[in-house]
Amino acid sequence: MDTVIVKNLVKTFSTRNGKIKAVDDVSLSIRKGEIFGLLGVNGAGKSTLINILSGLMTPDSGKIFIFGKDFEKYEEEIKGRFNVATAYYALSHNLTVLQNLKVFAKLYGVRNAEQKINQLLEKFFIFNLRNLRVVTLSSGEKSRLVLVKALLNDPELLFLDECTVGLDPDMAELTREFLQEYNKRTKCTILFTSHYMEEVERICQRIAFMDEGKIVKIGNAKEIIKELEEQKVELHFSANIKKAEEILKELKISYTKEQNKILHFSILNQEKIIFPILEKFIHKNVPFDDLHLKKPTLEEYFIKKSREK
Ligand SMILES: Nc1ncnc2c1ncn2[C@@H]1O[C@H](COP(=O)(O)OP(=O)(O)OP(=O)(O)O)[C@@H](O)[C@H]1O
Ligand SMILES: [Mg+2]
Repeated sequence: MDTVIVKNLVKTFSTRNGKIKAVDDVSLSIRKGEIFGLLGVNGAGKSTLINILSGLMTPDSGKIFIFGKDFEKYEEEIKGRFNVATAYYALSHNLTVLQNLKVFAKLYGVRNAEQKINQLLEKFFIFNLRNLRVVTLSSGEKSRLVLVKALLNDPELLFLDECTVGLDPDMAELTREFLQEYNKRTKCTILFTSHYMEEVERICQRIAFMDEGKIVKIGNAKEIIKELEEQKVELHFSANIKKAEEILKELKISYTKEQNKILHFSILNQEKIIFPILEKFIHKNVPFDDLHLKKPTLEEYFIKKSREK
């Protein structure tokens, strides 16, 4: 059974510039235990979708089922089993770290709250900040606190909206490792948004692209990237680069040259297409010293798709 099922979800905002369909007829399913990435340019509708799924906003229309239950009917019960962390989560700024977490622990009915809080504070290296007021924390420290808050009730489903924003590289890495480990250990389902493509490519099993409120593509990173037609090739020569250039010209492949040693060109992103080209070099006795094939990345896909409009 899928953990989250969304059917024909719509959310419109009225603004000075007229109506904006932030979520425009979105339907999708998130499988139990998967880390599902939601990507899209600024304003695509990702946070609005997460806010609706986590009960912070009500949709205009559409249906949501979480843990197999109608979210509208069983909202309170369902809310006890998931949690949410966003980079901009409203914590009480005048309370201390500990006071904030105790309030949430009460809300979630956490047993052995003190012990649980301390464990998580240590995990995210903010135990020593527990008696400081939230207003005095750095943005990265607040992001860690929001993650601690999100894990208090041992959630079976986590909504993470740009949860690594503001974290230093080391902490961001620890957080990704923790999330992967938590996902593996508990089979927790995770909906994850981020503008860091590399982390999405690495930790998410499936990815959805959102654009102007609509889901325009769903798949795993490999499938999505395959759509990109080009793969970059770099051939290194210690001699004979002139001959190599002639071969590329003969094959009608346009290229650029670097330091009279390296030729750069693009080929179609299909696994076997490079072999006939390399065979030509070998036949004509133009050996190369090194070959680098650069596969397209999710980032390249994202940039290409965003610019196509
Ligand atoms: N409370 C609101 N009132 C009016 N318009 C809103 C509101 N919240 C979001 N919007 C608009 O809805 C659209 C989607 O916004 P949303 O925050 O969901 O995008 P996003 O994909 O999360 O973007 P980002 O990558 O910048 O976080 C935007 O055009 C935004 O201006
Ligand atoms: Mg957002």
